[in-house]
Amino acid sequence: DLPPRVRIHEVGARDGLQNEKAVVPTEVKAEFIHRLAASGLTSIEATSFVHPKWVPQLADAEDLFPRLDDIEGVALPVLVPNERGLDRALALGARRIAVFGSATETFAARNLNRTVDESLAMFEPVVARAKADKVHVRGYLSMCFGDPWEGPVPVHQVVRVAKALMDLGCDELSLGDTIGVATPGHVQDLLSELNEEGVRTDAIGVHFHDTYGQALSNTLAALQHGVTTVDASAGGLGGCPYAKSATGNLATEDLVWMLEGLGIETGVDLDALTATSVWLAEQLGRPSPSRTVRALSVR
Ligand code: HMG
Ligand code: MG
Repeated sequence: DLPPRVRIHEVGARDGLQNEKAVVPTEVKAEFIHRLAASGLTSIEATSFVHPKWVPQLADAEDLFPRLDDIEGVALPVLVPNERGLDRALALGARRIAVFGSATETFAARNLNRTVDESLAMFEPVVARAKADKVHVRGYLSMCFGDPWEGPVPVHQVVRVAKALMDLGCDELSLGDTIGVATPGHVQDLLSELNEEGVRTDAIGVHFHDTYGQALSNTLAALQHGVTTVDASAGGLGGCPYAKSATGNLATEDLVWMLEGLGIETGVDLDALTATSVWLAEQLGRPSPSRTVRALSVR
């Protein structure tokens, strides 16, 4: 059985733009997020409060976030790796944050300069303080299927860190296929194992990158398992500067096309969203990699 409605968690402004070679002007980012909201998306990751030297593309977070104050009825979560990031986010009134852990040691070292357990220790006070303040916390888990340095990642290794993130008090968990190597059977195996270990499906979102063209198949497998939160990026932007071979996320337009075909509600106006991705592609100077954006924009 498929769910009647899916909540799309839009990551283009964060996962997408963090990976652009050129730094996108703050006013373009602000307009992008306003247009995403106008197209009906209700959960839009806005930026990251990380070290500006680690991700210079998002170093304007303090300038950008207040420009979104007039957006109503839309959740605008931000990435926060540590207490310094939390302080910065709370100072601007952020009400939703995401910490981001790794299932593998190599990526934890490269992305967070920590071991897996040291990163969990770094998140612990962040989640505790956020929860005390009634701030919603998402826990990302990267490299849930494969890692560019370590190869395939065993399910039990992923489950251990997933449970640790939930035990810290995260409200939801997003399973990241950072480099896009997952296939549908693997997705269902991981979801089943998480359920067996006590992580409920309704707390789980899926975050697929489309490197091998598997993101939609993997999404369908997750929906069949009962997942109703799906991360996607307008126009298929995305990647991770600290994960070699990571390409764009599942394109939101490709996702909406499939969900509409299945009769699943998203609340998103596909034409408005496509127009936004075409506009952003012009700003970035290259076409969107999304098949749906291309098909709809040549009509
Ligand atoms: P570090 O160098 O170990 O930091 O980096 P530190 O704790 O040793 O601090 C060093 C200095 O940085 C200090 O300043 C801190 O104040 C400052 P000093 O005292 O020397 O003057 N500092 C900060 N400044 C501003 N904001 C902060 C901050 N933190 C420390 N938040 C750190 C550790 C975690 C900070 C660094 O590794 C980092 O910023 N990493 C972020 C990497 C990142 O953003 N990656 C992309 C997002 S993850 C992703 O894309 C995957 C995902 O999409 C899911 C998937 O696809 O799998 C989510
Ligand atoms: Mg990602």
